Amino acid sequence: MLSEQTKEIVKQTVPVLEQYGNEITKVFYQRMFEAHPELLNIFNKSNQKQGKQQTALAQTVLAAAKHIDHLEAIVPNVNQIAHKHRALQVKEEHYPIVGEFLLKAIKEVLGDAATDDIMNAWEEAYGEIAGVFIQMEKAMYEAAAWDDFKSFKITNIEDQGTSMKSFEVEPVDNIKIPELVAGQYITVRIKPTNDDNLALRHYSIYSVKNDGKLRFAVKREGEGEKKGLVSHDLHDKYSVGDTIELSAPAGDFKVESDKDKKLLLLSSGAGVTPMLAMLEDEAYKGRNVHFVHVNEAEKDVPFKEEVDALNAMNENVEVTYHLKEKDGYLTSNELSNWINEDVDIYLCGGITFMDTIFDELEKLNIGQADVHFEPFGPKMSITNV
Ligand code: HEM
Repeated sequence: MLSEQTKEIVKQTVPVLEQYGNEITKVFYQRMFEAHPELLNIFNKSNQKQGKQQTALAQTVLAAAKHIDHLEAIVPNVNQIAHKHRALQVKEEHYPIVGEFLLKAIKEVLGDAATDDIMNAWEEAYGEIAGVFIQMEKAMYEAAAWDDFKSFKITNIEDQGTSMKSFEVEPVDNIKIPELVAGQYITVRIKPTNDDNLALRHYSIYSVKNDGKLRFAVKREGEGEKKGLVSHDLHDKYSVGDTIELSAPAGDFKVESDKDKKLLLLSSGAGVTPMLAMLEDEAYKGRNVHFVHVNEAEKDVPFKEEVDALNAMNENVEVTYHLKEKDGYLTSNELSNWINEDVDIYLCGGITFMDTIFDELEKLNIGQADVHFEPFGPKMSITNV
């Protein structure tokens, strides 16, 4: 238990740390990777290079510190992060390393302003916050369908729209694919071309068909300097018959609403992947589903054939493609035609798309709490905790 004095010091110093957040994060990663280069096999080097998501870890420690009196408030957000950590195989023994270098970075950046009292208080607070993660992740390791990463053979690859490919894989090792939940993702580990480290990425599962295979889709990320290390290799270097490694399916995004309500599944770009799994699953259960997909033009729409087939086969399914080239941006006006109190909203896409849709929904008095969502990026960057 933290003392009242420790909690007070932590809460009072959060604003200072927030002010120097970017600097602290930069020093933290730099020093940590110098001392522990093996961690470059877990962390996303493309994110590091682009400065993207780099602050998520430190920002979350600060966000959690604000709730140091009642850490249970962060549990819903920790759950999503803990799933990612488990999928990446972040282990209990990694936490003291992150703690050590986060504290050293605070000291290095703040200098004398970071007194012994302040540093001791933060050390204790980090231990408490890390404890919440470690406990939650322990339960996830126990529940996971298999340990570590296992080999899978690619059995099919198909183009989806202009920038995505779908992959179908089956286990090489003797493992059983668990019953999948629409909304889950898998984590791929490969050794990218011309790179010394392993690289890990999460990709959503697009079908929960139970036939001993796993199906996920990969968007080709960025070009030139900003080229995605893993997505480009998967698109250009991998073929049917090759093997990749996967950790067990993970994630807490799932359909959990009242069966009598209609579902509005709203996605953009690669956000289509978990939504297609939900559409397929719920359509066959007889649920009324309105599937809306936003993209630039018809040629870019991934899984169009699959979605159109589900639409044709199921009277309870309605499909709208919102194509920006001819329809412009999706506005609250259009959204209002599809939403009423008997509709539950599910949203998936990149951070920019999600931010825009939340702004439009706000005009209809619909807040984040009324929407089930999964951003392709850290959830805490668009929620308020
Ligand atoms: C991702 C927080 C400890 C490795 C993340 C994300 C957050 C976070 C918010 C982004 C999740 C998302 O994309 O939705 C934290 C906090 C920690 C902690 C608050 C300590 C209390 C660790 C440790 C490791 C680790 C100990 C391993 C050494 C990673 C990795 C990612 C990640 C590899 C994926 C993003 C990337 O590769 O840059 N963490 N984390 N984290 N975390 Fe942690």
